[in-house]
Amino acid sequence: MSFQAEQYTIKREPFYRSVANEVELFDAAYSARMPVMLKGPTGCGKSRFVEYMAYRLGRPLITVACNEDMTASDLVGRFLLDKDGTKWQDGPLTMAARMGAICYLDEVVEARQDTTVVIHPLTDHRRQLPLDKKGEMVEAHPDFQIVISYNPGYQSLMKDLKQSTKQRFAALDFDYPEAATETDIVARETGVDTKTAEKLVQIAHRARNLKGHGLDEGISTRLLVYAGQLIVKGVNPLAACSMTLVRPLTDDPDMRDTLDAAVNTFFG
Ligand SMILES: Nc1ncnc2c1ncn2[C@@H]1O[C@H](COP(=O)(O)OP(=O)(O)O)[C@@H](O)[C@H]1O
Ligand SMILES: [Mg+2]
Repeated sequence: MSFQAEQYTIKREPFYRSVANEVELFDAAYSARMPVMLKGPTGCGKSRFVEYMAYRLGRPLITVACNEDMTASDLVGRFLLDKDGTKWQDGPLTMAARMGAICYLDEVVEARQDTTVVIHPLTDHRRQLPLDKKGEMVEAHPDFQIVISYNPGYQSLMKDLKQSTKQRFAALDFDYPEAATETDIVARETGVDTKTAEKLVQIAHRARNLKGHGLDEGISTRLLVYAGQLIVKGVNPLAACSMTLVRPLTDDPDMRDTLDAAVNTFFG
């Protein structure tokens, strides 16, 4: 493995608690080098799952956090000026294609559609990436795979993937794990006892029922982990929950009262 690939290799096994048969399904998709889309709300385990799969498959992982200012050059690469003139620098997608990494485009809808189309020739039988400015055609390494994440909750007409992009991917649905699994995750990730983890998960369930009734998103597993992390530092659970489960979620005073009341039911 090259020095560069080594840098992107995950050395320690990430803790990932599987929720269904997603590991086997991803294994099969990877063995066909099929592009995969992970769909689900924020903070439910998509990124952790990719890290785990990259470790399990022994592939380097290159993650790109997509945003609307991102251009095709940010993915593919560009000429840079240095003292000797111009020098080509590969972007993360090109690097991943050359080294046979898993390239993870996180929150891909955030990128503009004219940026997203550069992945097309890598996602079909061609498995090529044209570097137009450089005049080079990169043939993807046989181990290269492309994975994207996508939050269906944020879908709007302005921000959605084109069908021509969507239909290049197999998709796995992710959601917050069921209560016992999520309790286990929160306890393992933070070191809080099972009782505390159970309470945090129950608070999350109350908040998730308010989605669409004043809340855009429920409390994520990520926020439950944050709450647990503060509690093990000795922060009073009421303060920890207010800081991690209530305030990040909403600015609406009534909704905050409702969530605070739920927290009080379990930790008051
Ligand atoms: N199945 C899981 N196994 C282990 N940890 C999980 C799992 N699901 C969620 N987590 C925890 O939740 C956090 C947020 O998950 P992440 O993968 O970053 O969410 P996403 O990428 O879906 O926004 C992780 O850092 C981890 O602590
Ligand atoms: Mg993520």
